[in-house]
Amino acid sequence: MSTFVSRNPANLTDVVTEVPAATAADIVEAARRAKAAQVAWAKMPAPARGRVIANAGRLFEKNKDALSRLVTREMGKVFREAQGDVQEVIDTCDFFLGEGRRLYGQTVPSEMPNKNLFTFRKPVGTALIITAGNFPAAVPSWYIIPALLTGNSIVWKPSEYTPAISKAMTDIFYAAGVPKDVLITVVADGKETFKGLEEGLKQGLINKVGFTGSTEVGRLIGAKVGEYIQSACLELGGKNPMVVMPDANLDLVLDGATFAGFGTAGQRCTSLGTMWLHEDIYDRFLEAYVKRIENEKVGDPMQDVLFGPMIAEKYLDTHEHNLKMVASHHQVHGSTGVGRISASNPRKGFVGDPDAGVFAHPTIVSGIKGGDELYYTETFGPLVGVGKFKTLDEAIELSNGHGYGLSSAIYTSDPNSVWRFREGISAGMVSINNSTSGAEAHLPFGGNGKSGNGSRQSGIWVLDQFTSWQSMNWDWSGKLQKAQMDNEEVPHNPDFTI
Ligand code: UN1
Repeated sequence: MSTFVSRNPANLTDVVTEVPAATAADIVEAARRAKAAQVAWAKMPAPARGRVIANAGRLFEKNKDALSRLVTREMGKVFREAQGDVQEVIDTCDFFLGEGRRLYGQTVPSEMPNKNLFTFRKPVGTALIITAGNFPAAVPSWYIIPALLTGNSIVWKPSEYTPAISKAMTDIFYAAGVPKDVLITVVADGKETFKGLEEGLKQGLINKVGFTGSTEVGRLIGAKVGEYIQSACLELGGKNPMVVMPDANLDLVLDGATFAGFGTAGQRCTSLGTMWLHEDIYDRFLEAYVKRIENEKVGDPMQDVLFGPMIAEKYLDTHEHNLKMVASHHQVHGSTGVGRISASNPRKGFVGDPDAGVFAHPTIVSGIKGGDELYYTETFGPLVGVGKFKTLDEAIELSNGHGYGLSSAIYTSDPNSVWRFREGISAGMVSINNSTSGAEAHLPFGGNGKSGNGSRQSGIWVLDQFTSWQSMNWDWSGKLQKAQMDNEEVPHNPDFTI
């Protein structure tokens, strides 16, 4: 039987856990059990399910420290950010526990007398949720919590790199009162998951798919579920632009670009892709940014550092591959080397032992132009591009031209620029004088174009992913009243003038 071994990416000798690898058949079997369990779960009054979410929120709060430590240990984000990852789960519970007492439908007037119209939200059934390793707690919770609250059952396929976190979370949900078959967690590789998804769809066992990951895989999943007349909730890649106008507060930009570019080692889907600097401040800001990044601490994620290791070796490989896109008209800055940090390729001021884990130098690539490979490619690592613009229209065009549309930011003190940017940018999320990353958990989260199919997570908006609207009409007139035909015409004078 094959297994997944998850290791601490800051110290590869530290094995966090080893779990059996699920097969496609295991996924189908899990979906079958979940499907059978969904009926009773949906019959439970929504306020009672809300109580279960309230219990989960309290348990996540009680276990916040331990779970955050596990997040840092298993996927390497700095402890402060790991706490944020878990806090987002708690925030999501806070938001949805009350939804159990709302989950509103509407009463709607009928066009005929003695007839009433209503709407109800119905759970979609059983959802297969496939999530990534970069937000191993928050992002799964954005799917799992509203899906449970609205009466669905779930098969959860977390990242192969974070099985210990997903087990801890699943156990918390069970302790909160979620029945064992209503949430089933399976750890599988991409190939088996896709086969299981296809078979589950064929057998009618999967009624919704939620996927957070690459655009490439999202496209395959979206196409497959489309064959079964479903639409997936897709949260895909980003090439998030940050536009800096000449009237911006550059100290604020420096903080924002440091966090957005290098927080989580650049492995957020909301991480900064390319900074577009107005030509008047280009040289000045680039110099300050390079100096700042050169002096930031990198290393042990339990210490006070800007970022720790990559999630796993595979992510470092991708980063090293992306560095090959640096062209002759670019300049590289930000560290004492590029690529993997090691004893032979050291980073000034590194905290800890670089050879123990998978650490990468922060890299700023300046001189980015619209047609570059680095302009078009989501790099998902500690690599930030910097380019120049003359007019806001040009900056907006550059911000949209790669086809991604997840997050975006503009720094300016001119409301005119703010509104023109908001209107012109294709991204689903816009920050004004703030980082591209760090969205709050109760606003719609999601993107357009290569970043997603318009589905949104979080807040009230995600309810439309996990429920379908049912409309009901009730005619109590005692006769057949035909809509559009039997309506009474109000007497009026169409020729009247004063
Ligand atoms: C992700 O990287 O998939 O807005 C999610 C943010 C976080 C969530 C990121 N709250 O950066």
